[in-house]
Amino acid sequence: MRLQGKRAVVTGAAGALGRVIAETLAAEGADVAGLDLNAEGLESTAAAVRSHGTRALSAAVDLTDFDAVQDAVAGFVEEWGAIDILLNGAGGGAVSYFHEMTPETWNTQIDRNLNSVFNVTRAVLPSMLEQKHGRIINIASVAAIAGGRLVRGATAYATAKAGVVGLTKALAIEVADSGVTVNCLAPGAQGTNARDNDTPERREALLSQIPTRLLGEPEHLAQTVVFFAAPETVNVTGVILPLDGGHSI
Ligand SMILES: NC(=O)c1ccc[n+]([C@@H]2O[C@H](COP(=O)([O-])OP(=O)(O)OC[C@H]3O[C@@H](n4cnc5c(N)ncnc54)[C@H](O)[C@@H]3O)[C@@H](O)[C@H]2O)c1
Repeated sequence: MRLQGKRAVVTGAAGALGRVIAETLAAEGADVAGLDLNAEGLESTAAAVRSHGTRALSAAVDLTDFDAVQDAVAGFVEEWGAIDILLNGAGGGAVSYFHEMTPETWNTQIDRNLNSVFNVTRAVLPSMLEQKHGRIINIASVAAIAGGRLVRGATAYATAKAGVVGLTKALAIEVADSGVTVNCLAPGAQGTNARDNDTPERREALLSQIPTRLLGEPEHLAQTVVFFAAPETVNVTGVILPLDGGHSI
């Protein structure tokens, strides 16, 4: 119970990784407030959180909407007093080749994967600065470091996730003496249900790019979130941690 009494916001809490992260934080004693577009998925995650005996809140909002995010986070802070942990996990890629990409596709990817991180972090940070304590953990992607070798057609996604890497480092410096740490995971391909429909050829093509020949386990990724959220990592900030089986080496 390393996170007993901590109050966490998890974005993308209805998604494959967000759900496992929310449950893992709850298993460590944290209360979890989920943000996602998917109201039904949020309810299911909230029930899973409560089954660990901790409190759950949720708000179904589009994280690209600055004002809606401000309102939702204000509601959480009013309910719980403050937020100790922010996990920015909402996002996702879409294949689009650069030579035919529309500005709309480009902007949608930047909005979903980068501007959403700005909106939520901007809403949560004042309460962390006020209490001189906070843990911000962002989920970028190996695409931010190694480009789109796993998935061709990922320029907008890789650019947005590289923005998350830059935001992590610059914000880590900006708030370094305020008791707030900012770190970032850069996962490679994870063994979520999104991979269930891989053909054997597609799976082999993927594994051939990963030195360990292993897909990531969401439960393992969630443990690195606990690591960055724990009191012992107070002096660990600005880290970009690849979880990619050596793909980005
Ligand atoms: N799964 C992987 O292999 C992998 C690898 C590298 C990075 N990532 C990153 O990890 C994060 C989680 O991935 P996942 O596999 O759980 O994906 P997922 O699609 O299962 O979950 C993403 C969640 O984000 C939510 N979301 C997306 N846009 C939103 C918006 N504008 N407002 C509110 N909610 C929104 C979705 O509703 C969804 O529930 C993403 O940022 C993704 O880019 C995933």
